[in-house]
Parts: sequence; structure tokens; C-alpha cells
Amino acid sequence: MEGAGCTSRPASFIPSCSGLATRRCPSVPWALMKAEFVLDALQVTHHPSPAPHPALEDHLAHLRALLVEDLVGFEDALLASVDGSLAPLPDTSQHLIAAGGKRIRPLLVLLCGRAAGNLDADKLRPLALAGELVHVATLLHDDVLDDADERRHRPTPRLRWGNTASVLGGDYALTRALDCVDSVGHPAPMREAIATLRSLVEGEVLQAHLRGRLDVTHDDYMQVIERKTASLFRWCARAGAHCGPHPSMATALGHFGGALGLAFQMIDDVIDYESPEGTSGKLPLADLREGKMTLPLLLGLERDATLRPWLEQAQGKLPTDGAARRELIRRLQEVDAVGSARALARAQAEAAAAALSPLAASPYRAALEGIAYGLAERVR
Ligand code: FPP
Ligand code: MG
Repeated sequence: MEGAGCTSRPASFIPSCSGLATRRCPSVPWALMKAEFVLDALQVTHHPSPAPHPALEDHLAHLRALLVEDLVGFEDALLASVDGSLAPLPDTSQHLIAAGGKRIRPLLVLLCGRAAGNLDADKLRPLALAGELVHVATLLHDDVLDDADERRHRPTPRLRWGNTASVLGGDYALTRALDCVDSVGHPAPMREAIATLRSLVEGEVLQAHLRGRLDVTHDDYMQVIERKTASLFRWCARAGAHCGPHPSMATALGHFGGALGLAFQMIDDVIDYESPEGTSGKLPLADLREGKMTLPLLLGLERDATLRPWLEQAQGKLPTDGAARRELIRRLQEVDAVGSARALARAQAEAAAAALSPLAASPYRAALEGIAYGLAERVR
């Protein structure tokens, strides 16, 4: 494999940690996690516009207490779950995991599972690990597809270890994710995980097909984000209910997870246009550089007929020309495209919260509502 660091670790096969959340690998200390984990993990910051839900901080405080049993040692388990194979396969995943991230997918597994009455941490933990491991796998592949150089304020694994290592590291993380799902011994999460992986792949294919085009429709955009993001959120929201006492709750939780995933991706796409250069952990206007038409630009094109011809001639110089990028942002602001995109994401988050209504009131359900409203306001 190409890239630095390939030979720094002795080759070995130590596949003993699969299903580690149930078997508790002795090398993984289940030390008490820091109380700040959830706040850091969510990275929620109030947006300058009035937050629609004043009690977000209360919900996050609940989270700390509610999930302590499930999250003890979670980070160590995540790192250990991709350890024990040929270098540099573990390094690529561990590089991303150690860089942080929101951990929203495992939180969803844990909270949704518990909201559906599944209090069995030995089942929820491996599913939560699986949710994050699939995410890590997709990022390792995605950064190759997008030629991305920076993620989470660090060089991407593909830049450090090479494209081959990043793709195979992603494949390896994926096998570990499936080990975790398998260890739960329930057919539904595995069946749905396979369908979800198919959706993720289809989302990327669709996105590749649309790359660089200015005639992308709103419907195209929704099709892409449904597959590449909402599908995994939906799986995370449903997985715990399947192996709990009320599997029928998976339906409402799936609606919640799907809508939350759409809102999450829409906000991600808004942040790409909102972040001052250098603050998002990725290059500024990364989506545009990568030829991706996302919601703020779609709305801008709908509202300003002069934007398309301007973009056609400016597209080539946007990656290198800061003045052209600032001009684009100014044009989008003029028609309130970025603000409106955030408003659409907020409506989607509200739909997510409403989908929880069939569930019995519980601190877990309240925390999920808090996450929905909080995510719609996040700024990084
Ligand atoms: C990030 O999107 C990427 C995804 C949400 C999904 C990526 C999926 C694949 C590469 C295909 C399936 C892979 C596996 C392992 C099943 P983005 O590029 O918009 O976000 P970014 O700005 O964070 O890169
Ligand atoms: Mg990408």
C-alpha cells in the first residue's frame, strides 16, 4: 500500500475484539467517561436566530445522566473495535475516531432503543458501535471519492496513508460494524443494515452522476441526502427497538431517524456556506469545490436568475479565488438562500420531533426531541 506509515506497525491478525461490547475485551478498560462527552459529542451551539426550543441545555444535562451506563468506555471500545489487523487498516479508522466527531449515530441508537423500552445495554452498545463504524467506513471511502484533503481539522487518512489504504481501511471498519450487529443475534438489525449499506452506495452513485451539474433539482438533492445520510440515521433509530420489548416502535422511530437525518445533512450543507473560512474543519465551500449542488445554492439559483450564468463563468476559479467565493456568498445572502435552507432544515427537524408522538413520554424521548431541535441550530 502506498503512503507513509504503512510499514510502521508489524503485520498481525488479532481478530479477538469482534463483538467486544458484549464480550468486553480485557484490553479495553471500561473506564468512566467524562461528563462533558455528550456536550462535546453533539457540538451544539445556539445559532444567532432565536432557538425554537429553550430547554436544549436541560435535555443535554439529561443525556449525561441517562446514557452513562451505555457510554462508559465507548470511545475506547470504538478504537479497539478497529484494532488488530494489518497496518495501516486500523490507523485509517483510528485517525478519524481520535479526531472527534459528533457521535450522533451511536447516541441515536442508545436513546431510541431506550425510548422503545430496550434497556439492555449489552444489546444497545454493539449496535451503537456499529452505527459509528459504518459512518467511519463511509468517510474513509467518501474522502477518496471527493479527493478531500481535510476532515475534522486534520489531513484526511487518504492524504496520510493513500487512497488504497483509505478504501481498504473503510472496508475493514465495515466488517467490524457487521461483526457488532451480528453479535446481537437478532435478524432485523442485520437485514436492515444490509439494505442501509445499499442505500449509502446508491446515494453516492447518484451524487457522482449529478456532480458538476447546475441543472440539479430539489428532488435530486433530496434523493441523494435520503440515501447517503438519512438511511443510516433511520437504521440507528430502529435498531434497538427491534431487539427490545416493543419492536412495533421501530416504525415511529424510523420516521424520526429518517427526518432527523435529512435535517442533519441539510444543516451540514448550510454550514458549508455559513462558516467563515477555516472554521468548519474542511476547506471553505468544500461542496462547491467538489461539484456538489446543495440546498443553499439550489435556492439561490431558484431565486436569482442571474446566478446561473455568473456561476457558469466563475465555477472554474472558485477553488482558488477568495474574492469570487465572497461574491457568491454575497449573492446568496442577497436572496436569503442560506437562511431559507436553514429554515427548511428546521422544519424537517420539527417533523422528526413530531414523529416521536406514538412513543410513551420518557426522559429518552424528551432527549431525542432536544437533539432534533438542537441539531437544527448547530453552527459547526
Ligand atoms: C459524506 O457526505 C458521505 C456520506 C454521508 C456517505 C458516503 C457513502 C459512501 C462513500 C458509499 C458507501 C460506503 C460504504 C462503506 C458502505 P459529504 O461528502 O457531503 O460530507 P463531507 O463534507 O463530510 O465529506
Ligand atoms: Mg465528502
